[in-house]
Amino acid sequence: MRECRCSLRDRIFCEVRRSNAMPIARKVRYNRRMRKRLIAGNWKMNINSSETAELIGQIIEKSGDISAVDVVVAPPFTSLVSAKAAIGSSGIGLSSQNIHWEEKGAFTGEISAGMLKDIGCGWTIIGHSERRQYFGETDETVNKRTKMALISSIKPIVCIGETLEERDTGKTNSLLKSQLGGAFDNISEADFADTVIAYEPVWAIGTGRTATPEQTQEAHAFIRNWLKTIYSEPLAEACRILYGGSMKPANAKELLALPDVDGGLIGGASLKADDFSAIICASL
Ligand code: PGA
Repeated sequence: MRECRCSLRDRIFCEVRRSNAMPIARKVRYNRRMRKRLIAGNWKMNINSSETAELIGQIIEKSGDISAVDVVVAPPFTSLVSAKAAIGSSGIGLSSQNIHWEEKGAFTGEISAGMLKDIGCGWTIIGHSERRQYFGETDETVNKRTKMALISSIKPIVCIGETLEERDTGKTNSLLKSQLGGAFDNISEADFADTVIAYEPVWAIGTGRTATPEQTQEAHAFIRNWLKTIYSEPLAEACRILYGGSMKPANAKELLALPDVDGGLIGGASLKADDFSAIICASL
């Protein structure tokens, strides 16, 4: 077997890849309808553990049957355990807002894949623009975190998106391309598995300003086309691409109806049970 000349983490990843070497295209028959909608709530640094349990209870009550859509909530670390209990058998998925690339060790303030799995957390948000903007997250660390999530069978929601300046100077596509290239560097088609991409224009996050349907569809189609070029058409057709940035009940239906929008990553509106449930309903 050819010697792998990469880091320990990458070597572990290579082992996983070898043991799961069958191309995805052969395992799954892809088509557009297979892209089950995904509505994810990113609660950021808001609400404590009892409020989390209460909010989840209200979402379950107000949303009714959610079997046709994947619903995921991402509370702060301290609320993951109470969230898990409140979720019960409702079918809602639990996500963290970060994951570290090492298994354990001296990484103050970080969280490991093993810790997340231990409490039944099956999803993680990676590379949110707030992490990139305030905490030094780079494409390289996004890539390392994504690899760790994938080898740990934790589904990554990888966030990308341009700033207003980048959009205004016509750099949106080149920025998306370089963020995608960085995030998925050395991740094969077989490894990519259930990875979700969230397109979140930074200028639309928490600002009340939403990308227009044209801007949104154009960016999502660009991302899907990148996946097609780098990986394959079947993978591109199967990958879920979420929109994030001031999605709310008033604009959800229009955005979710776009051909390449497969769901939403919602911040502010996901903290209100009525609004989040309305967005879930809009996705059905
Ligand atoms: P917002 O946040 O819905 O409050 O704009 C979206 C996000 O940051 O994921």
